[in-house]
Amino acid sequence: MVILKSPEEIETIRGANQIVAEILSELEKMIKPGITTRELDRHSEMLTRKRGAKPAFKGYRGYPFSLCASVNAEVVHGMPSDRILREGDIVGLDFGALYKGYYGDAAITVPVGEVSEEAKKLIRVTEECLYKGIEQARSGQRLGDISAAIQKHVENAGFSVVRDFVGHGIGKTLHEEPQIPNYGIEKRGIELKAGMVLAIEPMVNQGGWRVRVMNDGWTVVTADGRLSAHFEHSIAITKNGPVILSRIH
Ligand code: MF3
Ligand code: CO
Repeated sequence: MVILKSPEEIETIRGANQIVAEILSELEKMIKPGITTRELDRHSEMLTRKRGAKPAFKGYRGYPFSLCASVNAEVVHGMPSDRILREGDIVGLDFGALYKGYYGDAAITVPVGEVSEEAKKLIRVTEECLYKGIEQARSGQRLGDISAAIQKHVENAGFSVVRDFVGHGIGKTLHEEPQIPNYGIEKRGIELKAGMVLAIEPMVNQGGWRVRVMNDGWTVVTADGRLSAHFEHSIAITKNGPVILSRIH
């Protein structure tokens, strides 16, 4: 069942997502060769608590950190560690917060110093396909319109879409129905309605779409070892179209 939210609830969810967006933009400024992903994790938790919110991921199904930091061939759910970020790496930062009883969830992928042209293109296409998906999030459209728009843009650029992980509804819980695949067929799936709040999160691979989970039980990596990028926004469908709740203004 997809839970529709009132305009008041959407404003509260916006509050949670604004905290997430501010923290992601703080972390983005810290990304330089030499920093460890553990430092980013510590900082994200400190900033969250300072704002009177809670990190959403910490303790979720036993996940031990506040932040997911996924480097290069890591797709999502990379665990912060003493790993040092180097010039030429790309790092996905995925962060969630619980505030006034509602969740916020967003992600960005950031270059570390100067990166290859191919890495830049992967990051650009992944962010673009997120916006192509959001553009379809209108009442009267169907879920498959979001998925198909994302897949089309990714595959036109010569990249591939991860199948094994999907976006989701969000609200009083981090993951609600519907699941939102980043591949699919136009005009299929449930009808979209005003009041739906969705976390849309394309994961895009430079090579093939296949992924595997490492022995730590969390870190998802590309099967072929090539790069992957991830962007996520939480959005609300309103009668005036999609509104990005995790947009930094
Ligand atoms: N943005 C991710 C998601 O929506 C983050 C969850 S990671 C976990 O699934 F650590 F919380 F599991
Ligand atoms: Co999410």
